[in-house]
Amino acid sequence: MMRPYVIVNCAMTPDGKIAGRERRQVRISSQEDLERVKKLRASCDAILIGIGTVLADDPHLTVKDLPPEKNPLRVVLDSNGRTPDHAKILNQNAQTLIATSEDCKKTWKNAEVVRFGKGRVDIEQLLSYLYSKGVRKLLVEGGGEVIWSFFKEDFIDRYCVFIGDFVLGGRDAPTPVEGDGFPDHQPFRLKLIDVERLGNGILLIYEAARNVE
Ligand SMILES: NC(=O)c1ccc[n+]([C@@H]2O[C@H](COP(=O)([O-])OP(=O)(O)OC[C@H]3O[C@@H](n4cnc5c(N)ncnc54)[C@H](OP(=O)(O)O)[C@@H]3O)[C@@H](O)[C@H]2O)c1
Repeated sequence: MMRPYVIVNCAMTPDGKIAGRERRQVRISSQEDLERVKKLRASCDAILIGIGTVLADDPHLTVKDLPPEKNPLRVVLDSNGRTPDHAKILNQNAQTLIATSEDCKKTWKNAEVVRFGKGRVDIEQLLSYLYSKGVRKLLVEGGGEVIWSFFKEDFIDRYCVFIGDFVLGGRDAPTPVEGDGFPDHQPFRLKLIDVERLGNGILLIYEAARNVE
């Protein structure tokens, strides 16, 4: 299958949380990290998030200062069409693609809709479709359920995690990779390729071990 190169980027606290127990957006990135993410976004053809993140954070997912035609395509995994009509991801500042399951009928103004898979969006079909549209570099920004699906199906090439400087705690606070998890004896192997201090935090960049061994 031809698919884009897939980069995951997220920010977590030193205790491994990507949001607090209220599951709302928390700014974990330092200013330096925000600058890096801006460049990373601009270098990608598309940016993907799950409906959980749309509902929790209502992000616009655009690169400030870039005109709409230069902004990466915004992609939402939304099996049942729960993206609100007023969500910022549907604004005019970039193009938007909403991927639903085959049985969903919902449509949106300002968004292309594709329907892949039964029950949940079939990521393999979506990646193949994105590739056919010219997407060669895809940035997956979360949340934990979506990142887990990409790991589980072995579609991740690069994993970037910024670690900030405050603790949130909370047994129910979300982490970068959720889902059912891998069996203890079969973790997803990564290779650490770079480490960088960015202000009050640290950036870790890993490549999937299969890509470097
Ligand atoms: N710090 C950071 O870097 C960062 C970044 C992003 C998000 N967050 C945080 O993460 C939290 C949201 O994460 P989340 O895990 O609840 O939601 P999520 O990963 O954004 O979205 C998960 C939802 O996506 C839908 N989906 C459709 N197809 C899927 C597939 N094949 N695999 C997985 N999911 C699929 C499912 O809902 P349906 O079944 O309805 O389709 C699923 O429940 C929020 O608290 C947000 O603040 C933090």
